[in-house]
Amino acid sequence: MKILMVCLGNICRSPMAEGILRARAAERGMQLTTDSAGTSDYHVGEAPDLRAQEAMRRRGIDIGDLRGRQFKVSDLERFDHIFAMDRSNLNNILAMASGPDLRAKVRMMMDVLPQAPHAEVPDPYFGGDEGFDAVFDQLDGAINHFLDELEGRR
Ligand code: 4NP
Repeated sequence: MKILMVCLGNICRSPMAEGILRARAAERGMQLTTDSAGTSDYHVGEAPDLRAQEAMRRRGIDIGDLRGRQFKVSDLERFDHIFAMDRSNLNNILAMASGPDLRAKVRMMMDVLPQAPHAEVPDPYFGGDEGFDAVFDQLDGAINHFLDELEGRR
């Protein structure tokens, strides 16, 4: 199973989501391919924002090895599930998808939770450290739910 997390810059939300997914899958002994990308090219080649790295480290997860890259059309073929952090990310990805089979792989990250239809993971880039902690908690809840589903536990 190959899973891609997507946001705008690929330095805050999606590398955090990738790091949480990678860590939680490993804790469960699940073999997954994980990656993340940004719809923009603003931060290609950069490590995650230091505030994102520190928020992750406070929860015991290291994402210092991750580097920004831009989402590309071939990602729609390569990955089984593509999670967008917000509505704008979703629309940008769907605009690159050529048919219903590819579009069906793409959804909002928080839509894995039944109680939060179309909820967004807010961009923490222009805020303070507390925004990054809130993003962590939001992502961790959704990702654990998704992994439960993959394991057939829900
Ligand atoms: P991300 O946050 O999409 O969660 O990585 C952002 C990072 C950088 C910018 C916007 C959002 N930016 O405009 O540079």
